[in-house]
Amino acid sequence: MMPHVARKVSEARKYLEGKRSSDSRVGLVPTMGFLHEGHLSLVRRARRENDTCVVSIFVNPLQFGPTEDLEAYPRDMDRDLDLLSSEGVDLVFAPDPDEMYSPDRSVTVTERDISRSLCGSARPGHFDGVCTVVLKLFNILSPDRAYFGEKDYQQLQVVRRMARDLDVDVEIRGCPIVREKDGLAMSSRNIYLGEAERRDALALSKALVEARSAFEAGERDCRKILATVRRVLEAHPLVNIDYAEIRDAETLLPVERVEGRAVVALAARVGKARLIDNTFLEP
Ligand code: PAF
Repeated sequence: MMPHVARKVSEARKYLEGKRSSDSRVGLVPTMGFLHEGHLSLVRRARRENDTCVVSIFVNPLQFGPTEDLEAYPRDMDRDLDLLSSEGVDLVFAPDPDEMYSPDRSVTVTERDISRSLCGSARPGHFDGVCTVVLKLFNILSPDRAYFGEKDYQQLQVVRRMARDLDVDVEIRGCPIVREKDGLAMSSRNIYLGEAERRDALALSKALVEARSAFEAGERDCRKILATVRRVLEAHPLVNIDYAEIRDAETLLPVERVEGRAVVALAARVGKARLIDNTFLEP
């Protein structure tokens, strides 16, 4: 069945009012649309674990820098709605930017620690935009649980920190990366890749496989693991590394040796696309 589509905040609230009771749970999957199997894995989990399943589709202008791809960002609402009706989603919240942001808005949410490095240094203001829109979505839809992909691992940790520090009563659930058959992490931005770029983009997941192999063979020195990662990436001329780092999986602080759970995080520009990927190393 086609989900109910709400374009207005008041309409989404009204729909959910009728669904809420003390023993019924609402699960939210926040997205920017142009859905792929990665999003659908979140939707299926939210559908399974909750009584009411809500998906938001909103290309959030606040999280794009002035030179980024806001205008070009791929959109296909009809296709998204078809996919979501096959998944049994109850409500799609798809506001216009002027429904979400007043022209004189003056409050943003800033996380000042874990959002500053990695993608935060290449994309100043990006995580302020993410935190602000996610908190607004939480306030509008009051979900019990919200589902985020681990591909955007820094985003997941920043949202967790925001929810913890602001006492937002939502349980944040992270879900594993979904990959194409050949290993490329699914992303709406993969559509930007030409044929040769698509081939070279595989270097990211290959580099992570190499990192894991080195780790599984006993290597704990991050410099050595990262040297392997860089060797793989640098063998692909269309890949321009933005960062390749190993961080503590909880705090995102740099680590020299892998002694607790760590994340190998990569970002690279391949043609017009800025791609990110990661994997965990668990001693
Ligand atoms: O991951 C995304 O698609 C976006 O950053 C999110 C969480 C929907 C906020 O706009």
